[in-house]
Amino acid sequence: MASNAPIGVFDSGIGGTTVVKELIASLPNEKIIYYGDTARVPYGNKSKETIITYSRQIAKFLLEKEVKAIVIACNTASAVALETLRHELTVPVIGVVKPGAKAAAEATKNNKIGVIATRATVNSGIYEEFLHKTDPKIHVYKQACPLFVPLVEEGWIDDDVTRSIIHRYLDGLLKKNIDALILGCTHYPLLAEEIGKVTGDKVKLVNPAFECAREFRYVLEENDILCEEENPHENEFYVSDDPASFAGFANSILGEGSVKKDNVFIKNFD
Ligand code: DGL
Repeated sequence: MASNAPIGVFDSGIGGTTVVKELIASLPNEKIIYYGDTARVPYGNKSKETIITYSRQIAKFLLEKEVKAIVIACNTASAVALETLRHELTVPVIGVVKPGAKAAAEATKNNKIGVIATRATVNSGIYEEFLHKTDPKIHVYKQACPLFVPLVEEGWIDDDVTRSIIHRYLDGLLKKNIDALILGCTHYPLLAEEIGKVTGDKVKLVNPAFECAREFRYVLEENDILCEEENPHENEFYVSDDPASFAGFANSILGEGSVKKDNVFIKNFD
């Protein structure tokens, strides 16, 4: 596979643009082909079988675009479908869960780590599996926070309602004396400032998107497919519904003008 082939990135919708932001910062030469499943979002409360079916369809589409590697930007799809895709595909596939778990294991001093994520990610048990593999002495405390996704999509970040919901979800975790908290969903880094006000300075917030971008660079290097020369390109974006809303949200994350409306295409699966 040529090193100037694009990389494929996918998510259940718009939230994966937080991962795209970190990928652009860490790998500026790479061309990105992004798929956001905006018609079928959220994945976070769907069954394992459904999430795997959707992820397979998207991966197949990205391979038709001749991507050299795939990043599963969605925590839920990473938690549930990564192993299946790794097994079935011939290109490297990386998710956000393992890099996030690794960073949290490095950050904790008292071995008490909190994980907040969608219900599907929490129920998958994947974060504690990786954390316990790293260090069996780590205690993991989990909390599904399903209301965070719609709050972020509504733009209610600096908002009393959001602050009250953050307390409702996190007060129990904080009583466990955690000193690291994994923001285990694409949308949660956008609430990091407000979450940080509730958790205080003693709790390190871990953003798996940032860690994933760092690890993806190693994966490309190891496979000798890192694009080293400047590669003038337009990233391409595909969604299953409402390209205009996607472009609006993506520009709020990536910077105005980063995603041109005409560069967001509709792609649906049967
Ligand atoms: N992208 C999903 C995740 O990171 C959040 C939205 C959803 O539930 O699909 O888990």
